[in-house]
Amino acid sequence: MTTSVPSAPTTVPARSSTVAPARQTLLVLGASGDLTGRLLLPGLGRLLATGAVPGLRLIGSGMDDWDDERWRRRVADSFASVGADGPHETAVLRDSRYVSADVTSEDDLRRLLRDCAGPLVIFFALPPLVTARSAAALARIGVPPGTRLMLEKPFGVDRVSARSLNELLATLVPEEQVHRIDHFLGKSTVLNLLGLRFANRIFEPVLNATHVACVDIVFDETLGLEGRAGYYDGAGALIDMVQSHLLQVLALLAMDPPPTLRASELRGRKAQVLRATRLWADDPVTASRRARYAAGEIDGRRLPNYTDEPGVDPARGTETLAELVLTVDTWRWAGVPFRLRSGKATAGVRKEAIITFKQPARVPDGLTGYEHPDRLRIGFGPDRLGLDLNINGPGDPFDLDRVRLTADFGPGDLPAYGEVLRGAFEGDPTLSVRGDVAEECWRIVEPVLAAWRAGAVPLQEYPAGSAGPDDTLLGPVPG
Ligand code: BG6
Repeated sequence: MTTSVPSAPTTVPARSSTVAPARQTLLVLGASGDLTGRLLLPGLGRLLATGAVPGLRLIGSGMDDWDDERWRRRVADSFASVGADGPHETAVLRDSRYVSADVTSEDDLRRLLRDCAGPLVIFFALPPLVTARSAAALARIGVPPGTRLMLEKPFGVDRVSARSLNELLATLVPEEQVHRIDHFLGKSTVLNLLGLRFANRIFEPVLNATHVACVDIVFDETLGLEGRAGYYDGAGALIDMVQSHLLQVLALLAMDPPPTLRASELRGRKAQVLRATRLWADDPVTASRRARYAAGEIDGRRLPNYTDEPGVDPARGTETLAELVLTVDTWRWAGVPFRLRSGKATAGVRKEAIITFKQPARVPDGLTGYEHPDRLRIGFGPDRLGLDLNINGPGDPFDLDRVRLTADFGPGDLPAYGEVLRGAFEGDPTLSVRGDVAEECWRIVEPVLAAWRAGAVPLQEYPAGSAGPDDTLLGPVPG
């Protein structure tokens, strides 16, 4: 008699699917600001070009005394910057309007809402304190049923303000209709983590403390302040990059496999792993580092001292590079350091997560030249997967050589902002940050912010165009 062993069913998680309602309105509060022109409108243009959101009405609103013409020029320029000039985009542009308003005033908001027909998405492209005041005014007057809210990062300015903003939003709409944006969650390379981890047999069994020595999540940019002092000087690298984007990457990298990619399951898994995440040894002094750039040159471009950039207040002591070591205290990861680092104006672009594996239990005598452990690299720009291995390469077959297997992740259909906007238009919060997660992310970094404010961690300097300060927390990031 032969028995056949049934193979285990292969289940690839399903994504929530919902039907986009017709004739939606997107109301942008803070429409004359930098974020709207630089990120939101180009993302919207690319999304519209796919034919999604048919018949969208776009209304911009802000303090600036613009007319429709001025606003349409901005929309047209932003759409043109990403080649979004097809019939769908042109129809939205032609129809689009600008309403000058104080977005924190009940009367002005009432007037704005009267102009918004159909299902409504309100995008707060505003600084966190203005967002909170605007949301409070909306809570007093109410919003049409089904309204979805999109809020830019940072969500609040600390854990307490994030919690009270969450409480306020809960009086306006259900949690599933709140889309807290972290555009990293819309990056196709970041989302590639899901396929890489959960649709392959070979990685998941070794992604744990038994086999992994450490994890680095690095986001170094050659860009300096780029005229963003108004926002950045009040935020700094820790809030701008680590508290938001890099913790989201950590969550996707460290979470347990969700049974489906439905919003409730994916977001639940992320929340679980972030709840278990805290500073290494609970000590902000040894587990964090901060620095800011001094004058230097990058690719032939001369950058001034950060403190000499227009709009910077040197007394704030804002950092342009932040580094943290975290522990993810779960059965899977306990004891594995996760180092998160982000710096501006560094020598080169370095955007990747690197998983460094432990050494093999024993390299047999007679096999020479073992130097480096295996590493799995997930690049967020260039979007590339890399696996560093030791092999018996050319020449002496008993002498080990290093080899890197690489594969390019193809580009996604949409830029990150287009992807997160699609989620809001489809009423699918899978790629937005849940309220409790926003609070957890503040909880993780708050001891560091307090130690920095108290001067317990010195503010180091590095020349623009260098690799950053010399000494590092856990040794250099693997090259
Ligand atoms: C933004 C930060 O959220 O992300 C910027 O405010 C940073 O400082 C940017 O440069 C990086 O994202 P991207 O999509 O340009 O790689």
